[in-house]
Amino acid sequence: MTAFLLDVDTGIDDALALAYLAALPDTEFVSVTATPGNVDADQVAQNTLALLELCGRRGVEVAIGARAPLSVPLVTTPETHGPQGIGYAVLPEPDGQVSARNAVDLWIDHARARPGELTALITAPLTNFALALRKEPELPELLAGVVIMGGSFYHQGNTTPTAEWNTHVDPHAAKEVYAAYRGRAAAKLPVVCSLDTTERMELRPEHVRLLAEAAGASVPELVLPDQPEGRRSTSDNRVIRHLSDALRFYFEFHRLYDQGYLAHVHDFFAAGVAAGTLEYSARPATIDIETDSPLLTGTTVADYRGLWGSAPNARIVSANNPEQAFRELTAAVGSLAARLG
Ligand code: BDR
Ligand code: CA
Repeated sequence: MTAFLLDVDTGIDDALALAYLAALPDTEFVSVTATPGNVDADQVAQNTLALLELCGRRGVEVAIGARAPLSVPLVTTPETHGPQGIGYAVLPEPDGQVSARNAVDLWIDHARARPGELTALITAPLTNFALALRKEPELPELLAGVVIMGGSFYHQGNTTPTAEWNTHVDPHAAKEVYAAYRGRAAAKLPVVCSLDTTERMELRPEHVRLLAEAAGASVPELVLPDQPEGRRSTSDNRVIRHLSDALRFYFEFHRLYDQGYLAHVHDFFAAGVAAGTLEYSARPATIDIETDSPLLTGTTVADYRGLWGSAPNARIVSANNPEQAFRELTAAVGSLAARLG
């Protein structure tokens, strides 16, 4: 059983990550917190609650912490994830309410109550995590481990030519987080899923078709490049219908940027790394973030060779296996969708 503290900015690929983790039989959602990024914090929390309910995880506490990055104004990305953050999907109103508790306090309270037991997964800007580390500097020791989706090293950025979205939204938070991990034991260092490997996770129309087939949907789920943009799924399976509508938007966005009719599902990969279900390898490195240069702000730099003379503060994923990952996704989410109808 893996017990998770999650921090998300749901988000199409965050939604897929949540659906995947919800599909695993041995996953406990201790709490899921919302950081503003893809959409604002209230919308993230609503999306997350609705998504968890859709995926059969009612009653999970969803809380908001920061409402803006530490030192720069919030920029959201409706062009990437749609006006509500879930592409063309319109999620049902959740029955549950967003918690009145603060996300940062929640993380600290849970981590102190269950030292060494909780795995943290952050698929959002690092704002809430940086605030939690300010308040509880021993958080790295209290957590079993942490997986972060963020950064871009020997790979072009997806927000500026050199910067990745999560890090670019709150570069100061990222800088604080990696500084907080300096000098920690190797086993405690964050596992960092950067664009170098998450952009290898190219989800394609064929994967949507296979997912619907695994769910036992009555008609083939065909999301095709020559169909009119914005066409909505008519699947009789609710989970498939929502994921398909979300992914169609993501396919169209990637096509617009000449990446093909596909979707980079960054956060799903990070979720699988955190759950221990996806194949990967990682290399120790020292990470720092550029926060001052107008040209390079949000750019992540990795020192793999100790040139800065400081000990590693992260383990950067250096290889992964998209084929295995998509087989695993189809099987897990397909059987969840079949069960929930
Ligand atoms: C990251 O940015 C967000 O838009 C995605 O949800 C993912 O977490 C990829 O750069
Ligand atoms: Ca995200």
